Amino acid sequence: MTIEIRPTGGALGAEVLGVDLARPLNDADFATVRQAWFDHLLLLFRNQDVPAAQQAGFAARFGELDGVPGWRDKHAAGEENILIISNVKQNGEALGVLGDGELEWHTDMSYMPVPPSVSMLHAREVPDSGGDTHFMNMYAVYEALPAALAEAVRGRVLNHDSSYDSSNNLRPGAKEVTRASDAPGAHHPLVRRHAETGRAGLYLGRRRNAWVVGMEEAESEQLLDRLWAFARRPEFAWAHQWKAGDVLMWDNRCTMHRRDSFDPAARRVMHRAQVKGEAPLAVESVAA
Ligand code: SIN
Repeated sequence: MTIEIRPTGGALGAEVLGVDLARPLNDADFATVRQAWFDHLLLLFRNQDVPAAQQAGFAARFGELDGVPGWRDKHAAGEENILIISNVKQNGEALGVLGDGELEWHTDMSYMPVPPSVSMLHAREVPDSGGDTHFMNMYAVYEALPAALAEAVRGRVLNHDSSYDSSNNLRPGAKEVTRASDAPGAHHPLVRRHAETGRAGLYLGRRRNAWVVGMEEAESEQLLDRLWAFARRPEFAWAHQWKAGDVLMWDNRCTMHRRDSFDPAARRVMHRAQVKGEAPLAVESVAA
């Protein structure tokens, strides 16, 4: 079967038809898929009946797997590289992580020195409504920045706070942060050059306790508020309403995502694979 790449028509994303992820892709088909991922930032494969080991195997074609350390007891049975994202409880114990609440705009693990490149979710059980995941195209945001904002971010570095998760909960062992400039985390360029496409994108991570390194707190807050207000414009985003069997993979280097809350009584079970990335490159560090 030949592979068809069908763009969503929105700010990012394409559906891939003609691929069964339960079977290994030959090199030519994998090259088509990989290029489509670079071109569209996010790929959707529908109706996939893919066991955890095969999902991990497909993700590993993109780089070294990252088992999301820290959540070791929330992995699929026998598969240390597949983390369960779920609100379901079994005998009072959460099956997975991230519950049923809203998750704010973020890029996965940008508070680490080397954040992941790929995140991949396989929807195994989904609610009838709610729990949609929204994605933002950070190349498009950067390319559309008004001149004054583009100038304000040039050469700047952002601290990505590691204290709070995207549901605004303190991470285990973290202390409450009162000043963004005191927050622990990782420093990354605010404009990031993608290591494989060479394109530049705005790299915001998440809003809470972000700090533009070296700026007065108030000045940093003002700049970040303006950047976030611009980035949140609907033309940069596309939303996915899940169906069981969907596999969705996105590039964490040039996208952000957020999730709607859903009925706590409904079941939502996702299998997540993640691939190690590289330390973010400053746009100035690589010739365009
Ligand atoms: C995530 O933020 O990685 C989870 C997204 C989702 O549950 O849809």
